[in-house]
Amino acid sequence: MNKAFGCDEPKLERFVSELYAPEDEVLREIRARSVKEGLPDIQIAALDARHLEVLAAACGARKAVEIGTLGGYSGVALLRGMGPAGILHTFEIDPKHAKVAEDSFRRAGVASQARIHVGPALGELRSIEGEGPFDLCFIDADKESYADYLDWAVRNLRRGGVIIGDNAFLFGEMGEPAGPRPNPAVKSMRAFHERLARGGEFKATVIPTGEGLAVGVKI
Ligand code: SAH
Ligand code: DHB
Ligand code: MG
Repeated sequence: MNKAFGCDEPKLERFVSELYAPEDEVLREIRARSVKEGLPDIQIAALDARHLEVLAAACGARKAVEIGTLGGYSGVALLRGMGPAGILHTFEIDPKHAKVAEDSFRRAGVASQARIHVGPALGELRSIEGEGPFDLCFIDADKESYADYLDWAVRNLRRGGVIIGDNAFLFGEMGEPAGPRPNPAVKSMRAFHERLARGGEFKATVIPTGEGLAVGVKI
């Protein structure tokens, strides 16, 4: 049987969500407060947060980088996966989002392990290169820059380090034929996938979540 990529069956999602209970009270509060503070409701899904937590734990990450903090929802998941010895450098261009995230990390009891860097990530990332190489890099900011973020990750992840990219399907656009003049996000996401899949630097796949979660191990 050739099963479909992804699972469009709400009953099965309910089964997994109820059993694995990926969203506890702390994460629920972060989601609700982020919306209340006027942040866009675009944090990763509860089960995707669990994917991040498990991946961070599976690779024994101690030093992780997140590009795109928003209200701290995914950051808490990454920190939980790393445990008390983990440090997360997370990058956010919008000071308002960073402020909400700061509160989230405090409420989740992980404030001392989280470093929020405010500003355009491509510039700010340079400031932590001395602390590398890193164990994990989660990309979830502006889609136009995914190829550049991957380039940074290639240079700053250890061998065996894990790269994760949210929105790997680019809201369905990656399923469309390549046009002659792709918009910057499509162009960048395509380059991101090409390098991850065929660049020889990673063993990689895409986990068929709703948004598509690209995952690669640096070889
Ligand atoms: N990872 C978060 C969601 C991130 S949403 C979660 O799942 O909880 C994307 C975030 O990237 C937004 O907060 C946006 O302000 C931020 N962002 C967009 N462009 C950016 C840039 N150039 N540098 C840093 N952050 C950026
Ligand atoms: C958007 C960004 C995301 O990272 C996401 O997961 C969903 C939506 C957005 O910019 O609209
Ligand atoms: Mg996303």
